[in-house]
Amino acid sequence: MIALTLAEVAAAVQGTLVGAGPNVVVTGPVEFDSRRISPGGLFVAFVGEHADGHDFARAAIEAGAVAVLATRPVPAPTVVVDDPLAAIAMLARAVVDRLPELTIVGITGSSGKTSTKDLIAQLLARLGPTVSPRGSFNNELGLPYTVLRADSRTRYLVLEMGARGPGNLRYLCRIAPPQVGVVINVGVAHIGEFGSVEAIAQSKAELVEALPRDGHAVLNADDERVRAMAGLTPARVLTFGRARGATLRAVDVSLDERGRPSYTLVAGGDTVGVRLGISGVHQVENALAAAGVAWAMGMPLVELGAALGDLQLVSSRRMDVFDRADGVTVIDDSYNANPASTAAALHALGAIGQGRRRIAVLGYLAELGAHEQAGHEQVGRLAAELGLDHLVVVGAGAGGIRDGALAVSTWAGEAVQVTDQQAAVALLRSVLRPGDVVLVKGSRYRTWDIADALRGAHDHSVKATRDDQELGAGGSSTHTGVGKVVAP
Ligand SMILES: Nc1ncnc2c1ncn2[C@@H]1O[C@H](COP(=O)(O)OP(=O)(O)OP(=O)(O)O)[C@@H](O)[C@H]1O
Ligand SMILES: [Mg+2]
Repeated sequence: MIALTLAEVAAAVQGTLVGAGPNVVVTGPVEFDSRRISPGGLFVAFVGEHADGHDFARAAIEAGAVAVLATRPVPAPTVVVDDPLAAIAMLARAVVDRLPELTIVGITGSSGKTSTKDLIAQLLARLGPTVSPRGSFNNELGLPYTVLRADSRTRYLVLEMGARGPGNLRYLCRIAPPQVGVVINVGVAHIGEFGSVEAIAQSKAELVEALPRDGHAVLNADDERVRAMAGLTPARVLTFGRARGATLRAVDVSLDERGRPSYTLVAGGDTVGVRLGISGVHQVENALAAAGVAWAMGMPLVELGAALGDLQLVSSRRMDVFDRADGVTVIDDSYNANPASTAAALHALGAIGQGRRRIAVLGYLAELGAHEQAGHEQVGRLAAELGLDHLVVVGAGAGGIRDGALAVSTWAGEAVQVTDQQAAVALLRSVLRPGDVVLVKGSRYRTWDIADALRGAHDHSVKATRDDQELGAGGSSTHTGVGKVVAP
């Protein structure tokens, strides 16, 4: 964060200093978790479902925090505010206002925000110092948290923006007004909360409506609802996709044995060959979106072609393809799931597993509301149509996947439904053979355990990212008191 005195912090958040020197300077990052505090930091005490952050104020000061932002005085220098969530939003905005050199890139979409955010951050880092969120920090908590990482050296601030309802993106755009807005796709993720796909599209459009006239809306030409947003933004429009007429276009897409796409990128009358190092045909869409941003920021096409080839998977559990010592290939795409992202993963399994036994382990798809049965059936049907050999459906809630697969009368594969993830692991232990390719996918937490079991319990590097993902998703942590955060 940029250095601010406590007087400046208090003014920015409309708070009151209690037992705190106005000229004391905050230099370190803002943290909600006392274990993450570093010297010069500011600790924000939230009252959550499981714990009260105020109880960790002393620990934060001992770890080097210069003050605590809290809703009541604590035995430490305190900035007292009514609402800490609103306060960090105001503080984040105050930081943005002090950084006129910053270009803010906002990214939204139903699937692929985190994946695309990671790609954009890697490309822009070639152009200048770039700050982007850990994991999936995309809400009223994770977004200002990320903004507060920016300082006077930062040139690009890449922000994932998630929406659970109307007004969410408008609110996030007020915290950090973007100059570039990327919309990847509009699907049925969170449709249970929104009610209809049209409502989801309207909410996503809030990002491009918030752009300035001299900004850039980077829109997916292949998604009708996203394309239509061209008419809703005051900014310049740049499109990407396979569609003719897209500003940046991928043609002649093919996948290698690892499911990694190669294609020709066409832009501005020029072409360049691209070989992605990340798996899944949906990465073409994400990489095109990322290329659109870098192109808008002035990266020449030749450089872009090379840079795209160097892109890596950063956030875990998203199309993470690895080989086990016993010759089984695992596709860990267990971070989250909705019908579109599951379709993307099933296609990847189809491609990677050509000539091999292909097994999909699929869990419940959450937040589909009235679309729940249809969404699950659609996924099962696709698994069968792709001719997968085995389908392991995990949990009673996911039964529609099995129904969908069995409804495809020509399917010669086998569908088994198990009660929980332990049962899935036990089943896999008995059926997996060298050469098999197994995809693990479902909505968050519990499906991860299956992927972890297949990976081997000793790889802590992956498990360590869990906290990051959960905080970003509005989860909870006992050291912060941060519970589910509700949009203002
Ligand atoms: N363009 C895409 N289309 C469909 N599925 C995708 C796309 N990009 C990524 N996915 C898949 O969607 C899942 C979620 O990916 P990612 O975390 O990037 O999305 P997200 O939009 O950030 O999700 P969340 O809303 O949970 O933050 C992963 O399984 C990933 O492989
Ligand atoms: Mg995300």
